[in-house]
Amino acid sequence: MRSFMGRDILSLKDFERNEFFHIFDVAEKMEPIARSRRNSDLLKEKTLVAAFYQPSTRTRLAHEAAMHRLGGHVVGFADPKMTRAGDFYQESIKDTVKMLEFYGDVTVMRHFQQGAPHEAAKWASIPVINGGDGWGEHPTQILTDLYTVLREKGRIDGLRWLAVGDMRMRTMHSLAYALTQFDCPITFVAPPEMSLTEEFNAELRQYSLDFKEAEHVEQAIGTADVILVEPVVQPDYTKSRDERTGEISLTPANYKITRQLLETKAKPDAILLHSLPRMDEIPTDVDITRWSRYWQEAFNGVVMRMALLALVLGAME
Ligand code: CP
Repeated sequence: MRSFMGRDILSLKDFERNEFFHIFDVAEKMEPIARSRRNSDLLKEKTLVAAFYQPSTRTRLAHEAAMHRLGGHVVGFADPKMTRAGDFYQESIKDTVKMLEFYGDVTVMRHFQQGAPHEAAKWASIPVINGGDGWGEHPTQILTDLYTVLREKGRIDGLRWLAVGDMRMRTMHSLAYALTQFDCPITFVAPPEMSLTEEFNAELRQYSLDFKEAEHVEQAIGTADVILVEPVVQPDYTKSRDERTGEISLTPANYKITRQLLETKAKPDAILLHSLPRMDEIPTDVDITRWSRYWQEAFNGVVMRMALLALVLGAME
C-alpha cells in the first residue's frame, strides 16, 4: 500500500480498497481521543493552514477541531474577500499556495473552482486536502460517511445504497468513486436537470459501479440499507458565495425523506445519512427516529479528519 505521508487527498478516484480500510483503522484509533473531549500531543509540532474560498461550517471547523484534538496549531482564512485572492489583485492559486506552504505543514482548501486544490497541490511542497472544489469532489466528507456506515453497520460490502440529491454535486462524485471499491449496489434519485451527467455516467460504467437511477425515493427506499440524502434546493457551488434572495422552492416529494416514508417503507435497520446543511429534504421530526445517523456523522467528521491529518503528516503509519 502507498504511504499516506506527504500525500495529497484530492479525489477518491485515486483510492484503493485497502487504503479505505487503513484510514478507517486509524480513525478507530483516534476515536477515543475525540470521544473523551481531550487533546493529545500527536501533532504538537505541526500547523494546519485552512484556506476556505467558499463558506463552510463543518469541513473547516472539523479540520480545525481535529488539529486541536491532536495538539496541533491552526492558521488560515474563512473569507477570501479578506485575502489578496479576493480583492483587486485576484491573486492566483499558485502565488497564494507558494506563501501558505511556509505558514504550516498541511493545507485544507475549499474552492468554488473545480480542480483548484489540484492546482494548489501542483505547486505546494506540503500536502493539500480537498475540502470541496466546485462541483468536483468532497473526499473527506465521503470518507466520513463510509466510516459512519462501517461503525453503525459493522461492514460496508453487501449493503445496498440509495443516494438522493443533485448528482452533479461534489459529494455524489466522491461517493460514486468510493463505492467502485466495494460491493455496494446504489440507486441514484435526482431531478432530471440534476441527474448524472453523460460523462460521469460513462465513467461509472467503466469503473463497474453497480448503479441505477430512479425517479422517486419510494421506488428504492424499501431495499436500501444506507440512505444518503443531499439537498436539491441549493446554492450555486461554482460561486464563491451565493446569497439567498427572495422565495426559495420546496423540495418535491420525490426527493424528500419523511418520517412517514421511513416508518412505512424503509427497512427497520437502514441508516439515514445527511452531511448537512439541509433544507426541507429531511424534516426535523426525522431527527429522533431510529434511522437518523447525521449527528454520529458529525462526530465522525472530526475523527476522520484526525486520521487524515495524522496520516498525511506522518504521525501514524
Ligand atoms: N457537509 C459540508 O461540507 O458542510 P460545510 O459546507 O458546512 O463544510
